[in-house]
Order: sequence, then C-alpha cells, then structure tokens
Amino acid sequence: MAEKGVPAGTGAGREFMEKTKYRYLSRSDQERGLPQPPLELPPNPAARIIDLPEPASLQIPPLDLRTAIENRRSVRAYVRAPLTLAELAFLLWCTQGVQRVAGTYATFRTVPSAGARHAIETYLLVNDVEGLPAGLYRYLALSHRVQEVDLDPALLVRIMEASLGQQFVLHAGVVFLWVAVPYRMTWRYSERGYRELHKDAGHICQNLYLAAEAVGCGVCAIAAYDDDAMAALLGIDGVEQFVIYLATAGKVRERDEA
Ligand SMILES: Cc1cc2nc3c(=O)[nH]c(=O)nc-3n(C[C@H](O)[C@H](O)[C@H](O)COP(=O)(O)O)c2cc1C
Repeated sequence: MAEKGVPAGTGAGREFMEKTKYRYLSRSDQERGLPQPPLELPPNPAARIIDLPEPASLQIPPLDLRTAIENRRSVRAYVRAPLTLAELAFLLWCTQGVQRVAGTYATFRTVPSAGARHAIETYLLVNDVEGLPAGLYRYLALSHRVQEVDLDPALLVRIMEASLGQQFVLHAGVVFLWVAVPYRMTWRYSERGYRELHKDAGHICQNLYLAAEAVGCGVCAIAAYDDDAMAALLGIDGVEQFVIYLATAGKVRERDEA
C-alpha cells in the first residue's frame, strides 16, 4: 500500500531504487582516480583505548551451526547478569573482526562486504559488561580494541528514547549501534553504494544473532529509531556518518548454565 498522499510506485523508496540502477550511475571517484578513504575512522588520540582479549585466546563453548541457526530468535527479555569482556570481544570479533589487511586497500573480516569496502563502524552502548564502565564506545576493528566515546550515564535512557521508546533497550547488556560511513562505499560504487551499505549491515547483525547463541545471549535487531536523535547522541553528523542499524544483546541465562 502506498504511503498516505504518495501514489503507489512514486515515493522516495521507489525513486531510490530507480535512480540507483546502473544505467543512471555516474563514474565513481575510484574510477576517476581519487584517493581511497581510510579503512577505518581514525582513533581519537585523546580518548582512552581499552585492549580486548585476543580472538584466538577466547574460550567460547563450541556450538553447532545448525543449532545456532535453529535456536536464534529475537530476544527482548534479559536476565540481570553481565557479559564478560571476553564475551563482548567475541561478539565484536564475529561481527566485524579483521582477519586480513591488504595494505591500505581492503580488509577481510568475519562478515562479507560489497567490494570488501567494510564501510560500517561499530559503536557500543555498554550497560552491563564486566571490566568496562557503562557508556558509549567505538570498536577499533583494525586493532581489536575499544575506544571510549562518552561515559554520560544518561545516554542509555536517551538511546532508548531515540529507539522510539522501546523499553527493552534499558535492560540490554550492550547495544550495538552500527554507523555507515557512506563515502567508503560510494567511492567505488557511486550512489548505488547506499544499497550495499544496508546489505552489509544485515550480514553484521545476523552474525551477532548467531554468535550470541554461543555465549548465552539473546539479540534483538532494531530498525525503529529516530535517525537524527540517534546521530546527535553519537556525535555524528547523520550524513557523512549515519546510524544504519541497531541491536541489543543481553544474557538470557546465568553463566553456570551457559
Ligand atoms: C531489519 C529488522 C528490523 C527490526 N526492528 C525491530 C525493532 O525495531 N524492534 C523490535 O522489537 N524488533 C525488531 N526486529 C525484530 C523482528 O521483529 C523479528 O526478527 C521478527 O519478529 C521475527 O522474529 P524472530 O527474529 O524471533 O524470528 C527487527 C528485525 C529486522 C530484521
């Protein structure tokens, strides 16, 4: 059904699909010989940076892939138990972990990405993780560390409010906020790159759903949020960087049952 006042097939969504067909695309900046943007937003030199346990050292109970796929559900009720730093490191590794760096040209990670552009940064609203004060962080995927962004205790409530008041956000151990850096993708694919950003975000979130099964966590994807409010909370402009997707993760059982 068409949006109120917008005839079927003529709305902004339809126009986006039409105008990002190959036949309308201009030459990309890569084709025009412009330099590639960095593989990751540079760390803030003034911010505290925290090392995460190395991916190879993480002791995660093995879980059959079929079991993970069959058991995965969107979970909005969590028990009051913290994630360990190792569990958080595992979830970050499974969603954005960098396995190989090809010079300054590309990264290869635990998730696929159109043209290996990997144009998504991971912000984390930590609420209940052992060893990490609550607050907003950014995952530095290239070095597998997290950087403090903002430890304002009011952020959790504000992020719940910007998620259109979805109350379960308040009880998550951690909220993943994925931020697209569109030029990293459009540099190669021009305007069509915006399509690929959304597909990449889907892969990331699906890996989170499956990885969470191995560490006794439940996940719920969130697409219902106020774009501008969310960008303001993260301190990004909403254009050159914008929130593309969110997900909550929280414990669904105590550790000794995991
Ligand atoms: C793109 C996307 C956006 C979603 N947004 C929300 C959301 O904002 N709030 C919410 O409670 N669930 C959200 N969900 C979860 C869906 O409601 C859920 O996947 C669906 O009901 C099917 O349930 P299942 O994941 O347990 O199979 C979202 C899921 C996807 C894939």
